[in-house]
Amino acid sequence: MKVLKVSDYASLSKKSATLIAAQIIRNPGSVLGLATGSTPEGVYAELIALNKQGLIDFAGVTTVNLDEYYGLPGEHPQSYDYFMRQKLFSHVNIAADCTHLPSGMATDAEKECRRYEQLIDRLGGIDLQLLGIGRNGHVGFNEPGKSFPPLTHLTDLTEDTLGANSRFFGPGEKVPTQAISMGIGTIMRARSVLLIASGPDKKWALDKTINGPVTPQVPASVLQYHPDVTVIYCD
Ligand code: GLP
Repeated sequence: MKVLKVSDYASLSKKSATLIAAQIIRNPGSVLGLATGSTPEGVYAELIALNKQGLIDFAGVTTVNLDEYYGLPGEHPQSYDYFMRQKLFSHVNIAADCTHLPSGMATDAEKECRRYEQLIDRLGGIDLQLLGIGRNGHVGFNEPGKSFPPLTHLTDLTEDTLGANSRFFGPGEKVPTQAISMGIGTIMRARSVLLIASGPDKKWALDKTINGPVTPQVPASVLQYHPDVTVIYCD
């Protein structure tokens, strides 16, 4: 695990975007695993700038997102589908049919999870997976538990995650309680991983991830077993 502490959020965003840009330049047909949440927003802004400057080309890139709220349609402003279009896809030259998320509206969730795993396999796997981290150590929506979920699955969100994510929803708006998420196994099969974290409320999770025992109680700690992980963080 390479761990890089940077001075502020702007450097975190710039450095992370540089690593992703390097991946796209090395392999213009890269499959990128992407994440939502507030942390990657700066990275996406930097990638948009690099694309506009003509330094990176998304024409051959395919993306697969980590997760989606179950029960939210893609048009809902809090859906991850909507987030990705707003924050990245509609600003760069990526083809809409090369951007993938689990469908939050699938009536048969199990079937949707199988479809998503097969899609990733068919794409040849993920070259670089970008990850944020929840303050309880969750990645994607793999919440603390008894084991590491191997595959994309439907999951219940913990109280802590519901609390953290409720800030994005309006007063009286119901926060979804379930999500479809890549599994820890899906994430671990990515050829490289870039984990980013910003701010004091991620300190506990980050410390456990880097220095703690590998345990499904802190899902991100499993990354200690991955051969190519970069962590970039700021206080
Ligand atoms: C959600 C997402 C995660 C993300 C986490 C932290 O739970 N499913 O992928 O890492 O939020 O988000 P933030 O970066 O806003 O703290």
